[in-house]
Amino acid sequence: MTTPIRVAVTGAGGQIGYALLFRIASGAVFGPEQPVALQLLEITPALPSLGGTIMELEDCAFPLLTDVKASDKADVAFGDADWVILVGGLPRKDGMTRADLIRANGPIFTGQGKAINDAAGPNVRVVTVANPCNTNCLIARSHAPKVAADRWFAMTMLDQNRASAQIAMKAGVPVGSVKKVTIWGNHSDTQYPDYKNAVIAGVPATSVITDAAWFTDTFIPTVAKRGGAVIKARGASSAASAANAAIDTVRNLYHPTPADTWFSTAVVSDGSYGVPAGLIYSFPVRSKGEGNWSIVPDVAVDDDARKRLDAGVAELISEREAVKDLLGPAV
Ligand code: NAD
Ligand code: LMR
Repeated sequence: MTTPIRVAVTGAGGQIGYALLFRIASGAVFGPEQPVALQLLEITPALPSLGGTIMELEDCAFPLLTDVKASDKADVAFGDADWVILVGGLPRKDGMTRADLIRANGPIFTGQGKAINDAAGPNVRVVTVANPCNTNCLIARSHAPKVAADRWFAMTMLDQNRASAQIAMKAGVPVGSVKKVTIWGNHSDTQYPDYKNAVIAGVPATSVITDAAWFTDTFIPTVAKRGGAVIKARGASSAASAANAAIDTVRNLYHPTPADTWFSTAVVSDGSYGVPAGLIYSFPVRSKGEGNWSIVPDVAVDDDARKRLDAGVAELISEREAVKDLLGPAV
């Protein structure tokens, strides 16, 4: 039998976890032939209710799910993991910014970074979802010197999906025809959802939607503030759409990217597009498959876009400053 892919998920007993685990187990990420094993991490008081979720996973009788383990110890949950999805952490409440979570959630990622370093498999890839996800990823990575820079990701795919959906609704086209949407920067209100390079059925989105003011005055703030709008409406932060975006992120990295598009994820900057090396910054990315990716070069960045890209850089530098006492040796 094909060796199972080991997927560790933290915060597995939370809202996103509940929307995520069943889809991973069903084959939605790695395809219908690839077995998976789930390794779930929760805080001790949440293990009993996570036990109920595990009963439900068993009751689905997923043919691809070979094993499920739960633990409150990071080194156990991350043992030999091929993929680690870091979801565990507090969500924000109405009126908070994601950066307000930094001192509550940041410390989680020191120990988890070390445990990834010590226990995960040799090819591990790590996707950070818990907010503020770019900076939590920075903290975890800084404690895992053994794990190469190209193995770390923070999730901006939810922002990309939101942006694609807004463009599709405005243009009155199926969302699948919208491609090359990029989220640049931080998963925060400073993000730049780049519509200027987006295409609809192969032609520039700006030639289909000719109302330039709609893009700057409605589209950008709607996408950037969508997380807050969902919290206000639901009384809880996005969960199903966040889990879906985590699935899209891993699937996009695991499978080769079609030639006519790219996708967004925050990665460790190599200095591309003038973003300081080492920042966890969202770029347009293409994958060659199995987690091997590169930043798409030569995407047009005009003066207005440059200012928006730089706002993300400035914010991420100030977040890094705010957690400098939490950073380990590998920054
Ligand atoms: P939730 O409160 O429903 O679940 C979080 C879970 O994490 C809880 O079960 C909690 O017990 C667990 N947890 C807390 N500390 C932990 C630790 N040290 N180790 C393991 N587990 C731990 O929250 P949620 O709605 O699932 O959201 C989780 C995180 O994802 C939040 O930080 C939220 O802001 C973030 N989020 C990010 C995005 C994104 O686009 N990047 C989207 C949505 C939510
Ligand atoms: C989102 O974008 O929905 C999440 O980051 C949750 C939040 O706090 O906005």
